[in-house]
Amino acid sequence: MHKMTENAIEGRAVVLAAHAHDLIAMAARAPSVHNTQPWRFRVAGPVIELYSDPGRKLQVDPAGREMLISCGAALFGLRLAVRSLGYGPQVELLPDPARLRLLARVRVGAAAPLTSMERQMIQAVPHRHTHRGQFLPGELPAGLVPGLQHDALAERATLALVGPGLAYQRLANIAALAASRLDLEPRARAEVRRWTRAPANQARDGVPVLAFGVRALRDTRRLQQRDFDLGRGLGRLPAGGQPPPVTAVLLTSGDSRADWLRAGQALHRLLLHAASRWVFASLYSQPLEAAVTRALIRDRLRLPGAPQMLLQLGRADTTHATARRPPADLTDP
Ligand SMILES: Cc1cc2nc3c(=O)[nH]c(=O)nc-3n(C[C@H](O)[C@H](O)[C@H](O)COP(=O)(O)O)c2cc1C
Repeated sequence: MHKMTENAIEGRAVVLAAHAHDLIAMAARAPSVHNTQPWRFRVAGPVIELYSDPGRKLQVDPAGREMLISCGAALFGLRLAVRSLGYGPQVELLPDPARLRLLARVRVGAAAPLTSMERQMIQAVPHRHTHRGQFLPGELPAGLVPGLQHDALAERATLALVGPGLAYQRLANIAALAASRLDLEPRARAEVRRWTRAPANQARDGVPVLAFGVRALRDTRRLQQRDFDLGRGLGRLPAGGQPPPVTAVLLTSGDSRADWLRAGQALHRLLLHAASRWVFASLYSQPLEAAVTRALIRDRLRLPGAPQMLLQLGRADTTHATARRPPADLTDP
């Protein structure tokens, strides 16, 4: 029996080593703030370690909250990638308090067949994207929103819906307030310029012009988008279209590093679930970057937790995947 267990563990280490490239490639498809991809990986025998890459942390994110949400999203991608091989992932979150950059250790666990939902999520990885362009008219598929709320709960987060009336108006006003302040801040503007990519630019990180538009006239039915264009006339996405039918806030009960990693896992999970039905999200983190507007959102919407991400979800039939760095550039010996 003991021998069999040892063989099984060794076998899983072989599986991991043989598939490390593909596992890391799937993890790296995760969303990240400004497409900074602030993650690194290390394959150590039977374990893949996930690290943050603080050199890619934004100045508007001094505590690293958005960096860790991004890394949490990559962790969910890594877990799903292990599932795609037919095994259960074993995850140790923040395994060593003395090593702040080490965020998780992932091992290949026991064999377990894929569920149909997992299969659909895996198929959605290539076309999931942050949708800043036009949405199609109409409601979301029946039953999808409760499914996404279940995804959040399963990752120890909450997806709180924002009703279309007063609550939405309050949120939109606070988001507009945050945008009008932060869009003028030289530090934030310099970072947006640093992380946006002109058409001929071959960089495999940052936000490409095909993924954002020039700033349109304000449409109060949509939350104010982060301004990636900054008056440069670079953005290629046409504005207009229908407002997305669902607005939501992703919450966690606490606001620790572990909570940020959980929020990231919940975010990626529900975005892939939605994408499997050709439903995509606009993401808005700018109003949460200033402590004062983050607190206002929590208070005015009476949210039962710490807001980690604002989302609007709608249907679309177009997709444009943004580039990612290859696994070799993300892996440390
Ligand atoms: C923590 C976090 C914050 C983000 N904030 C915003 C935002 O404020 N505005 C926005 O348009 N996209 C936002 N995004 C989306 C990223 O810009 C997007 O994930 C990245 O450019 C990669 O593109 P993709 O999601 O289409 O693969 C955010 C993503 C994460 C994970």
